[in-house]
Amino acid sequence: MIDVVTEKAFPLKAEDKHDETRQGEAFEPFAQDQNVYQKRFYIESYGCQMNFADSEIVASLLYKEGFGATRNVEEADLIFINTCSIREKAELAVRKRLTEFRKLKGEKKSLLVGVLGCMAERLKAKFLEEEKLVDLVIGPDAYRSLGSLVREAEGGQKAVNVLLSREETYADISPVRLDSNGVSAFVSIMRGCNNMCSFCVVPFTRGRERSRDTSSILRECTELFENGFREVTLLGQNVDSYYYTPPAENTAITFAQLLELVAQISPDLRVRFSTSHPKDITDDVLHTMARHENICKYIHLPVQSGSSRILQLMNRTYTREWYMAKVDRIREIMPDCGISSDIIAGFCTEEELDHQQTLEIMEYSRYDYSYMFFYSERPGTLAQKRYTDDVPEDVKKRRLQEIVEVQNRLSLQNNKLDIGKSFQVLIEGNSRKSDADWMGRSSQNKVVVFSKGNFELKKGDYVTVKVTDCTQGTLLGHVLQ
Ligand code: 5AD
Ligand code: SF4
Repeated sequence: MIDVVTEKAFPLKAEDKHDETRQGEAFEPFAQDQNVYQKRFYIESYGCQMNFADSEIVASLLYKEGFGATRNVEEADLIFINTCSIREKAELAVRKRLTEFRKLKGEKKSLLVGVLGCMAERLKAKFLEEEKLVDLVIGPDAYRSLGSLVREAEGGQKAVNVLLSREETYADISPVRLDSNGVSAFVSIMRGCNNMCSFCVVPFTRGRERSRDTSSILRECTELFENGFREVTLLGQNVDSYYYTPPAENTAITFAQLLELVAQISPDLRVRFSTSHPKDITDDVLHTMARHENICKYIHLPVQSGSSRILQLMNRTYTREWYMAKVDRIREIMPDCGISSDIIAGFCTEEELDHQQTLEIMEYSRYDYSYMFFYSERPGTLAQKRYTDDVPEDVKKRRLQEIVEVQNRLSLQNNKLDIGKSFQVLIEGNSRKSDADWMGRSSQNKVVVFSKGNFELKKGDYVTVKVTDCTQGTLLGHVLQ
């Protein structure tokens, strides 16, 4: 059974989809000489891939400030928690963690604790003044002021910067690849979001949408490739609206063009992206994907609901029919493309009929995977201002369970259809369950586990695997060549 994923925002890399909740993961220090640093930071991240990518920028800035990383919280002089506001549960988890860190402060007076990311703006007063939980509060656009804020905090002041920016993309900062498998990396291509989906807090926590300088993205991806990485995932809240006009030029670079440019770095570099908005993904993007073997045939295309009435209340700006036509178009241009989704159960005023339509659209779209949530009202969002959160919790949970059951069935069904087929797999490392097996992914983003046998293979190699069996979350097979 796929667990009900309530605390994950965007698709992640995990061998086993049971483990996909990413709550409070500490980073493994980067493989460099950690002994040169006098002071150490510990960083724990919650929420979406974007947040994890931000933590790598924070780490890079902290190295420059003379802090080395540690995975052992007891050893840290500076603890950061990179927070998520997307659902209430994520916020509760962070709060609990901060209370634990506070205890450590009792034992080590010089210890500083800071809150980064999406909860910073909304809860700064509460964290700093009322509950005295933290020493620093730094919003997602203020990481450049980390150094001065840390110094302020070291001097005994409460240090805060939660200003959102219209320009900041951290384009010039090379993220430190913490806790990396050395094969796949996330590359942030834009920040913020202008969509204003009525349930979503992101436009308030992360601000207006802005695209990162294309040349800096290409530079980062090229460096990754030169350093042995074989897969980049281009990240943004809504990648299809990427739009960057280089200085001194008149024409802007679209997402389709960016994809093409990244794909041209090397045929051996796989390119993925997340997240697409059904209203924005263009034929141009689909054709670009189809043209390049190394652009993975996988699209995360959140539907949120299958009911046009609910979609309108959600301000998603597409109907059920529009979404279905988009799925048709994807399959027409790329018959082998994997599709996944995000689904919210129990949005305001949702009735049984709306819910049934969500189940139907899941069947229609034949999702390989979905991130499934029940609606959690967020302060300041359009939905909170305009609508009543009127679906009782037990109904939300029951509907979510039904959604999960449909998804479980679809995932298994889709995986069974792959038995007998062969896929090019990029090896990411040992299988979690056995060192005798490799784990990698197909272009469609499916996890593939296969025996190492006597082949001379290593992490980062491409290999053709024939699928002979499957579970709901994994394809099992053997090496063909
Ligand atoms: N309640 C439940 N799920 C939400 N999401 C975003 N906001 C909420 C909310 N208030 C889900 C959406 C989105 C994913 C990142 O998180 O499905 O696509
Ligand atoms: Fe990511 Fe922030 Fe959204 Fe959470 S609230 S999913 S951390 S952007």
